[in-house]
Formats: sequence, C-alpha cells, structure tokens
Amino acid sequence: MDLLPPPTGPLAIAAEPLLPAAAAHSPLVLSVVLPTHNEADNLQAAIDQITQVLEDILPGAYELIVVDDDSPDDTWQVAQKLSDRYPQLRVVRRTGERGLSSAVVRGWQVARGDVLGVIDADLQHPPELMAKLWAEIARGVDLAVASRHIEGGGVSDWRLPRRFLSRGAQILGLIVLPGVLGCVSDPMSGYFMVRRKCLLDRELSPIGYKILIEVVARGRVAWIGEVGYVFQERQAGESKVSHRHYIDYIQHLVRLRFALWPVQRFLRFGIVGFSGVFVDMGAFYVLRDLLGLGLTRGAIASAELAIFNNFVWNDLWTFGDISARQRGWRSRLKRLVKFNLVCLAGLILNVLLVNLQFNVFDVNEYLAKLVAIAAVTLWNFWINLKLNWRVTESP
Ligand code: GDD
Ligand code: MN
Repeated sequence: MDLLPPPTGPLAIAAEPLLPAAAAHSPLVLSVVLPTHNEADNLQAAIDQITQVLEDILPGAYELIVVDDDSPDDTWQVAQKLSDRYPQLRVVRRTGERGLSSAVVRGWQVARGDVLGVIDADLQHPPELMAKLWAEIARGVDLAVASRHIEGGGVSDWRLPRRFLSRGAQILGLIVLPGVLGCVSDPMSGYFMVRRKCLLDRELSPIGYKILIEVVARGRVAWIGEVGYVFQERQAGESKVSHRHYIDYIQHLVRLRFALWPVQRFLRFGIVGFSGVFVDMGAFYVLRDLLGLGLTRGAIASAELAIFNNFVWNDLWTFGDISARQRGWRSRLKRLVKFNLVCLAGLILNVLLVNLQFNVFDVNEYLAKLVAIAAVTLWNFWINLKLNWRVTESP
C-alpha cells in the first residue's frame, strides 16, 4: 500500500481526519499509532501480535498507523510491505520532522478512529493489554493509560540508574506541574488510548518522548482509567532514550508550566495589587495626618482598607468568573477571611525575605524590598488561585 503523505502544519487534531480515508472502510473506532525508529527487526512481530489482539475485540473497526522517521534500517519499507498483508495498516514516512511525540501526533492527524492510541513498536508494551485499555474506554473513560506504577505494573529488569532517572523525572514533574503529573500514576507512559474529542481544537506542542503529559495538560480529559502492566525487555534493537531526552523533558515541563499559567488572571491580580498601593497610601495620609489616628493604627487601618479594596476587585474582576458561580454573602465572607489570611502570611513572608536578603546576602534594602514584593505577589496570587477562589468553587 502507498505511503501516506506526512501531515504538516500545527500539531492539532481535526474533528475529521486531515487526509482522505485511504480506503472506504466501515466506521473505524480505534486508531493505534506505532512510532518507529530502527524497528525493522521488531515490527513484524509487533504488528502480528497487536493485530491478533485487536481482531478479537474490534474486528474490522481499527487501524494501525506506523509513523517512521526515515529509519536507517528502512523500517518504513518493512511496514509498507506488511501493509500489503495487513489492509488495516497504514504507513507514514517522515523525512523532515523527527521525534517520538510529534510522530504520534502526526499519526493521530491521519487517523480516522474516534479513539486514538499509541504503543511502542518494540513489544516492550505488551499488546494483549490493548483489550484492557479498550475495556476502560468502553467503560466511558476519556483516557486509558497503561501504568507501570499500579497493581500489576512494573518494569522488567531495568538497571537502577534508569529506574532512578525515571522516578526522578516523575518527581520533578510533580513539583513543576502537580496538576498534570498528579493525575496519572505513570505520566511517563507511552502506551495509552484517548478519545479524539478530548484533543479537538487543542494545538499540541510536545517535546521529546513524553506525549502523555502533553495530552493530560492540553487536552480536555475529565476521566482517566489505568491498567497495570510490566514493561517488557526489548526483543531486538535498543532504546533510543539518551540524556538529550531528559533535557527535552525539562524543556517540555517548563513550556507547559508557562502555557498553563493563567497569564491574564495574573496580570489582573497585579493591576489590582497596584491599585491597593494607592489606596493604602491615600488612606494612610487621611487616617494619620487628617484624622490624627497615629502611625501604627493609621498603618494597620490603611493596610486593611487596601486589602479590602484588593479583595473586592479580585472577587469581581480577576476571579469574577469563579466567584459568580458561588454567590451568597457567606461564601463571599469566607473568601474575604481567606484573602486576609493569605495577605497576612504574605506580609510575614515579605518581612522575612527583606531581612534574609539584607542581613544574610547583603542585598541593597530597596532591591530587597522589590524582590520581596514580587515574590509575595506570586505567593498571594498562587495561594488565592489554588486555595481560595478555587476551593470555594461550587463542584
Ligand atoms: N518516529 C519516531 N521518531 N519513533 C521513535 C523515535 C523518533 O524519534 N524515538 C523512538 N521512537 C520509537 C521507537 O522505535 C519505539 O517504537 C518507541 O518509539 C519507544 O522508543 P524506545 O527508545 O524504545 O523508548 P523506551 O523503550 O526507552 O521507552 C518507551 O516506553 C516508556 C514507558 O512507556 C517510550 O515510549 C517512553 O516514552 C515511555 O516512557
Ligand atoms: Mn522500547
């Protein structure tokens, strides 16, 4: 069968396949992508075994898509020959773009199924697990992940450094993107199925190997199912993982962190905070100089007025969309109390940071104050986002 032309342009999944269906088929429900690089010795066995499993559960309603990055061992030619024997197999040979995760997305772009899957072509992901992953999809989950870190999971005999690196990468990801990597027990998994609708009108921009964190971070995935599996030993060839992939992974985490950072909300929060400075200064002048409240009482009262000002604007503008879903004076009062507590903690943090920089690191006091204000603004924003407006959000 002819090679499919590799898609180009943004890595976005269309409601309908980008390319016309290669052949008029009964409706396809599942498209499984096999990213390949130098898998000529493994591919036939992989296609045989995956086909056996899928013929059982979805006869005639699935397709396999090999996306090869112009392998020196001509894996794409092996795949093309196999496609004469397996009509449900289609082959994409990429010569420009490279990389596991972008290969998977390009395969999904030519896919015709409602459910998009990925499995390695080296039989380290046991094909028989497809039946359990599909059972999860049939149960209604949006994303079914093969996990090495739940009951029934494991890695064959990975050497300690690889185990350590894999777990270390996972912990780093949990620190940088807790909301993403915390959703799955094996965020490094390269073996899963996801409903096409979860990825529609989402432009993906993965780097390196970790396509799953891209799907969880940018997709609309509400319900995740997991199935335990033991990562197998390679039959032939070797892993392409290199130190480059760990650098890619860190780059990917940082890119997602900024992509998921609520920039507009943060800018609003900063503008409101800035308005609070004027309220604080103005109120301080009126209370201390015009009403004779004295320095300390004037400072405390004006600070509280500024906090109240900031709360009102944040509640109406910065987080207005969230607080609009949780009306009532009780919940508003609860948010105001929490906002005060966060600001109080921020005040203490501010004083500690100024002292630390000035007395320990000998930083100029005004620069120290500026750094402290920036740090406390981030703190106030993040804690309010995570623990205040978010927590009181109606389920
Ligand atoms: N098209 C393409 N381009 N395919 C690639 C590339 C590439 O640059 N690099 C690797 N592949 C293919 C390999 O041919 C294989 O089919 C699959 O991607 C996995 O590559 P390996 O090099 O064998 O990765 P691994 O076995 O160390 O780790 C795999 O399993 C882990 C656990 O699920 C990968 O899938 C990891 O991402 C995953 O975390
Ligand atoms: Mn492998």
